[in-house]
Amino acid sequence: MSIYSADLMATKVVLITGGGTGIGKGIACAMGEHGAKVVIASRKKEVIEATAAELREQGIECESCVCDIRDYVSVTALMSFIMQTYGRLDVLVNNAAGNFPASVDQLSANAFRTVVDIDLNGTFNVSKAAFEAFLKGKGGAVVNITAPFEGWGVAYQAHAAAAKAGIDSLTRTCAVDWQPLGIRVNAVAPGSVSATEGTGRLTEALVGDRPTISCSPADIANAVMFLASDAGRFVSGEIIRVDSATGVDLLRIPVH
Ligand code: COA
Repeated sequence: MSIYSADLMATKVVLITGGGTGIGKGIACAMGEHGAKVVIASRKKEVIEATAAELREQGIECESCVCDIRDYVSVTALMSFIMQTYGRLDVLVNNAAGNFPASVDQLSANAFRTVVDIDLNGTFNVSKAAFEAFLKGKGGAVVNITAPFEGWGVAYQAHAAAAKAGIDSLTRTCAVDWQPLGIRVNAVAPGSVSATEGTGRLTEALVGDRPTISCSPADIANAVMFLASDAGRFVSGEIIRVDSATGVDLLRIPVH
């Protein structure tokens, strides 16, 4: 049973990038269960179409649209799709990300650039396009999915940690720049989330058989809904870590 009222997100149109799997799917599901009209976007057509069908079977209003967030033309096409389908966008969740465990010496220049391009530039692209198409006219909420890496050296994550640091900065700057327009911008930093591809690979590579404490996509969705809804109507520029202070302890090394 949800901790929120069933109509928390009613009348809201919500876009979730990377909404076909893992945390993004969990957020899409939770938003839809609380009354939102949900649009999920990702590069993988068959994945998001299957997820959208699954959510519709649960009674959720859900549409899918193929989009590569690295490509601004593809992102503006996504905004056109939302305009044609719903005519509005109230909440953007920048969740899409790419990652793999690799030490700095294992990373090529292209590998580093690829992850920064997906995570950081992709977050900028979708935020900017949503701002131009919808948010600047009537306000709204943006929630970026980052990582609890700030202030730490994170083993095997030079690419993702750099990108997430950029997302943290972008979150705070957009919050300030867009505050006069009624647009709130926040971030959620999940720790180890069970049953996601990213956690699976990182755990296998770095933790081996050691037990770890994981939360679920629904735990992340609860924090996202707080920030996206009127519950968080006076919260902006914040980064909320949702990892029970345990999520990536095994991966991070304090920077002195
Ligand atoms: N270790 C080191 N380098 C790696 C790597 C790994 N495990 N996986 C990919 N790379 C490198 C590639 O070799 C390539 O560099 P190169 O051209 O110098 O050889 C570069 O990263 C780009 O990889 P490529 O697969 O061509 O890019 P892509 O745009 O098709 O996909 C990802 C990029 C990140 C999406 C892809 O690595 C991927 O599918 N990851 C797993 C899925 C995922 O990220 N899920 C989200 C979890 S948060």
